[in-house]
Amino acid sequence: MDFLSRRSLLAAAAVSTLKAAPSGPTDEKSWREIAALYPVDRKILNFNHAGIGTSPRPVTDAYIKHVWSEEKAVPLTIFSYGPQLEPIRQGLATLFGADPEEIAITRNATESLNAILLGLPLKSGDEVLTTTLDYWAMLDALQQREQRDGVVVRKLKIPVPCEDLSQIVRIFEQAITAKTKLILVSHPINLNGQLFPIRDLSRMAHAKGIEVVVDAAQSFALAEYKLADLECDYLGTSLHKWLQAPKGSGMLYIKRDKIGKVWPLFASGGTRPKEDIRKFELYGTWSESILAIGDAIAFHNSLGSTAKEARHRYLTQRWVDAVKGTPGIRFHTAFGKTQSCGITCVEVEGLNSGALRKALLDKRGILTMDITRRTQEFKGIRISPSLANTIEEVDKLAEALRDARKLV
Ligand SMILES: Cc1ncc(COP(=O)(O)O)c(C=O)c1O
Repeated sequence: MDFLSRRSLLAAAAVSTLKAAPSGPTDEKSWREIAALYPVDRKILNFNHAGIGTSPRPVTDAYIKHVWSEEKAVPLTIFSYGPQLEPIRQGLATLFGADPEEIAITRNATESLNAILLGLPLKSGDEVLTTTLDYWAMLDALQQREQRDGVVVRKLKIPVPCEDLSQIVRIFEQAITAKTKLILVSHPINLNGQLFPIRDLSRMAHAKGIEVVVDAAQSFALAEYKLADLECDYLGTSLHKWLQAPKGSGMLYIKRDKIGKVWPLFASGGTRPKEDIRKFELYGTWSESILAIGDAIAFHNSLGSTAKEARHRYLTQRWVDAVKGTPGIRFHTAFGKTQSCGITCVEVEGLNSGALRKALLDKRGILTMDITRRTQEFKGIRISPSLANTIEEVDKLAEALRDARKLV
């Protein structure tokens, strides 16, 4: 039995001991048992899972087991984890529909995407297109390319919310010049959950010889898709967000024939051939606890991507439906299946978003994120439930939003 299937049995055990698998997204009896697998302090109701959430107990148990195994026998084990990454690489590749030789295991989305944005051989005058709403760390990486190498970065504004996804492709297409080499987009934008038409964008870009990098931190293992649905050249994601793997785990995908040209963040030339995706994993000593990514994959697979996405959509639909008639409530998220999945930005007109976030936390123990910390283009709080939330918690969120004017 290989490593991953052995671990799969451990992690999947928690789900298989449920009386029955959920029969659908509204099967509260089963979803309540699943929510109970998350050992969270429910005095604070976390509706900011796009920020960070809690791993399910079998994943945390495996993580701790690895920590102890490491601490008890460090001299023997510390340099021997490498081979154990291979089944994890395989598990991630299967989940994403890619070749394992195209998958590197990193520490987070920031590291994966910095490897691409800083490692691609771009020269002075080459243009990169992205959006004003992409994640700050990737915009910083591009700014560093601008300052260091004279690369030109052009940040495009996209409609918020964007109902017609073909508009996004048109905005990028119109901005392309003979110097454009790369497009960076988030799928979705973290501030309002806007998904992008990645395959259409990739096809349009590829026809003009331009490559596409996808920041999938807020969709991988949340929305169900495979590489074939995106057709992108590069993708980076964290695994501690929606896969709920241990904190400090991430994945990098690079199309096979492009691996050789990307410089890794940490030099590896004496150790790995430049075409080997493992060159992105040589960041020095790492902890065995990262092997619990295998348990997170197993937990995810035992529920299945379809059921998980459907539940996230249902939780969102439930609170959105419950508040949408409330005077002054305004959504900055489009709700079609291709437009968003589980991450929503809502504004209560006339209320300061920071004050609203604080009032929800102080007066109702509800944690959200104030998006005006990151953009001035629109206002509101971001709400992102997960499988750890019960339906009663979602209803409490809706009630608090209806009461928002009394709370602030
Ligand atoms: C769109 C997006 N990209 C990247 C990141 C960075 O993730 P990490 O801190 O895990 O590297 C985040 C974090 O919230 C994000 O929302």
